[in-house]
Amino acid sequence: MVQVVFIEQDGTRREVDAVEGEPLMYAARGAGVEGIIAECGGSAMCATCHCYVVDAPDGVLPPPEPQEADTIEFMAHEPQDNSRLPCQIKATAAMEGLVLQVATGR
Ligand code: FES
Repeated sequence: MVQVVFIEQDGTRREVDAVEGEPLMYAARGAGVEGIIAECGGSAMCATCHCYVVDAPDGVLPPPEPQEADTIEFMAHEPQDNSRLPCQIKATAAMEGLVLQVATGR
């Protein structure tokens, strides 16, 4: 298990245990993190899992693949340079301590 933090829209910090090799979105949904809707089930199509990376250990996040980048650009509400889709980020041990802010709206 890898512990990552999701900050909900009201500022609540949720420490969530993620299974190595599985998308962080699964861990967030499993823990009931508010605001992670995941309408498309994790296929990088809906942006309803959109988060901002607040803190990440150096080099642990690979850059977004083109599908993720396109969905962020065209579907996400208020995309930023630190926007990511946690359905596209598979947990690794090195991600311990990663902090993601749940984005607001679509
Ligand atoms: S769950 Fe749909 S884009 Fe992540």
